[in-house]
Amino acid sequence: MILVTGGAGFIGSNFIAEWLGHEKSAVINLDNLTYAGNQDNLKPVANDARYVFAQGDINDRALIDLLLRQHKPHAIVHFAAESHVDRSIHGPDEFVQSNIVGTFNLLEATRAYLQEQSAAERASFRFLHVSTDEVYGSLPAGAPAATESTPYDPQSPYSASKAAADHLVRAYANTYRLPAIVTNCSNNYGPRQFPEKLIPLTIVNACAGKHLPVYGDGLNVRDWLYVTDHCTALRLVLSKGRVGDTYNIGGNAEKTNIEVVRTICSILDELKPASEPHERLIEFVPDRPGHDRRYALDCTKLTAETGWRPAENFASGLRKTVQWYLDHPDWIARVVSGDYKKWITTNYEARDKQ
Ligand code: NAD
Ligand code: DAU
Repeated sequence: MILVTGGAGFIGSNFIAEWLGHEKSAVINLDNLTYAGNQDNLKPVANDARYVFAQGDINDRALIDLLLRQHKPHAIVHFAAESHVDRSIHGPDEFVQSNIVGTFNLLEATRAYLQEQSAAERASFRFLHVSTDEVYGSLPAGAPAATESTPYDPQSPYSASKAAADHLVRAYANTYRLPAIVTNCSNNYGPRQFPEKLIPLTIVNACAGKHLPVYGDGLNVRDWLYVTDHCTALRLVLSKGRVGDTYNIGGNAEKTNIEVVRTICSILDELKPASEPHERLIEFVPDRPGHDRRYALDCTKLTAETGWRPAENFASGLRKTVQWYLDHPDWIARVVSGDYKKWITTNYEARDKQ
């Protein structure tokens, strides 16, 4: 059994499906189902007898203690977090509570649990903390990609909360010999990503004939990785990664935002033609405050130690992603609820008034 936190979200749900497709051990998924957590995401595994769902918060220590003692997992894969930078700007509290305090709580529960296990069980246990490239901060154009030893320089409440959690995990590995590994991954995209993030927002809006908001000059750069490739890397890090170490996971696919949006438009022109090209919907809007200019990751260490390489390139992964959203109008209709509409108003109308 492994314990996955945040498995009803975008990456966690893809990870659980990928795990159950390749591994023997069962999965217990602890998720408190925030706006980003969706039971629909777990439909592909709902009938697998090895899948168990527990609704709850990573800040609920009693619940975590119970789950650990009941299920005796040999690993924890920790995804649960508030994940959207724009939301962290409008309301940082939940980011501190879930990303920092929640991770601390999970570490404390794990430390206590491991004290009750045999030396062999402790040695084979893994706490895999899933983090982000944003902790390295914004890189100047042309600067080398961040390696695992690049100093942390987080610039948003979201990335600061993830950086704080990463530090706590490493401190527990060093001080208490908790068998932890940290991974820092670049921007994921693929099926089941909540349409507040750039790629699904652009696809969903374009299909509905709505504007495609591009922040600032559209020249901010992100490195993109297809979500299943992230999941494969996490499985490899769990089995081959060195305890106490950090691994970067990236797609080696740096793109400006405007390039991403234009590419989605041209895929849609082919797959779902409208009377005029979808690019007509692009609208430049005021920038995100403190918007990081560029992220890029050097993944040499991961490839050298585990042999991992992404199976998808940006062109193939993006086409699959657009097709998934075209094939799942019901999923979109369910997540684009009243709450989501309120968020769109908060984020984009506040931006327009700047
Ligand atoms: P997401 O927002 O889609 O999902 C987060 C999940 O965590 C949701 O199911 C939510 O209900 C759950 N959750 C949140 N707070 C919780 C709490 N207090 N207790 C229990 N469950 C809680 O996020 P995602 O995009 O799938 O990201 C997952 C993880 O990967 C995060 O830690 C994020 O920082 C990291 N990450 C994401 C990306 C990316 O591009 N999306 C890239 C690198 C790293
Ligand atoms: O880099 C990894 C990170 O990638 C993860 O840790 C985060 O959880 C994930 O949300 C993502 O953060 P970003 O801020 O890079 O993702 P987002 O999709 O919000 O934005 C991507 C880029 O597109 C960013 O430069 C802002 C821009 N953008 C975003 C939105 C939502 C727009 O131009 N318009 C938009 O409407």
